[in-house]
Amino acid sequence: MELINPKAQSYAEHFSPQEDALLNQIELETLNHPEKQMLSGPLQGKLLEMFSQITRPRYILEIGTFVGYSSLCLARGLVPGGELHTLELSGETAAVARANFKKSKTDGKIILHTGNALEIIPKLGKPWDLVFIDADKTGYSDYYRMVVPGLKSGALILADNVLFHGQVLEKKLKGKNAKAIQAFNEMVLHDSRVEKVMITMRDGLLLIRKK
Ligand SMILES: C[S@@+](CC[C@H](N)C(=O)[O-])C[C@H]1O[C@@H](n2cnc3c(N)ncnc32)[C@H](O)[C@@H]1O
Repeated sequence: MELINPKAQSYAEHFSPQEDALLNQIELETLNHPEKQMLSGPLQGKLLEMFSQITRPRYILEIGTFVGYSSLCLARGLVPGGELHTLELSGETAAVARANFKKSKTDGKIILHTGNALEIIPKLGKPWDLVFIDADKTGYSDYYRMVVPGLKSGALILADNVLFHGQVLEKKLKGKNAKAIQAFNEMVLHDSRVEKVMITMRDGLLLIRKK
């Protein structure tokens, strides 16, 4: 299901310019990737960058690196000495992201972990200020349950694809991913430890703030 009017999307992109040459290059290089739609893209990338610049995090956790586009956007708001830890299951994809990070000014601040996020997150033990959940949809609830208890008041979680291509809008949900996202959205809705707002950007972005 096309969720956003393509004309509105182009208009918004026009008025939210992405002027970074490396990000533009990564976007172009990913055009032939079979899963190119996974890349956040200029509009959402700019929004992630803004959230990071507003919150000025010391520790960012990103679950789902892909080719590193969103990592580079998020890393821009880090305070001096800050770190972004990004997790990617595929070794092949992580190698592409690593090469992209090497070309950036933020390379030294980005720590890429290759493997299953479920196993890596408990070993990191950082006081996350900003968390971006953007990996396998069936893992969202587990990732959330893992990170929320350790968050300080005011810490922010952003969860991508919470409209799951419109599939969560159907009366009868089909497929494990749509069902997992619906369960995640319900869980966050009823979690009194956090404030939340769902933005109908791209494939849906849920903003969650620890009280
Ligand atoms: C939607 S893409 C991430 C896109 C990226 N955040 C961006 O906005 O450009 C999801 C990524 O999560 C990775 N992934 C899937 N399951 C994972 C897991 N259990 N642990 C870590 N990474 C995982 C996939 O290999 C894929 O590269």
